[in-house]
Amino acid sequence: MPQPTELTRRNVILLGSAGTALALVGCSPPAEPPDGQASATPDGGGTDSKPVEVARLADVPVGSSISASLSGAPILISQPMEGTVVAFSAICTHQGCVVLPAKTELDCPCHGSRFDSATGEVLGGPASRALDPVTVTVAGDSIVAG
Ligand code: FES
Repeated sequence: MPQPTELTRRNVILLGSAGTALALVGCSPPAEPPDGQASATPDGGGTDSKPVEVARLADVPVGSSISASLSGAPILISQPMEGTVVAFSAICTHQGCVVLPAKTELDCPCHGSRFDSATGEVLGGPASRALDPVTVTVAGDSIVAG
């Protein structure tokens, strides 16, 4: 009669399978954030980035916004007051569509979320989180990031 602690051939195979599964879990890369924001949010900063022009100041209407790009990622640049610029990732915080300028707002064409062009805050859902900010500054006639 087999003892409860006796290792049978079947028990060894089951233990081996469980150990393999645990080893695979231990080696898996970290999961992406559920909204995928890590790969789609240029911050315009970083220690090794050089300032890059993202737009001309004259191209951004006062009180409105334009679409632009930074390192291939879509961004939105607003000029809420003359000479003051702000920028945001254009990736919607709801499900990742590209948000577009719409007069004094930033609107997502996919499900209708609306964002404040001066702050990036949500004006209307379904998005529940503001657009990610991108650091930009005015340098002469240019708007630069980095
Ligand atoms: Fe923008 Fe859904 S992806 S509202």
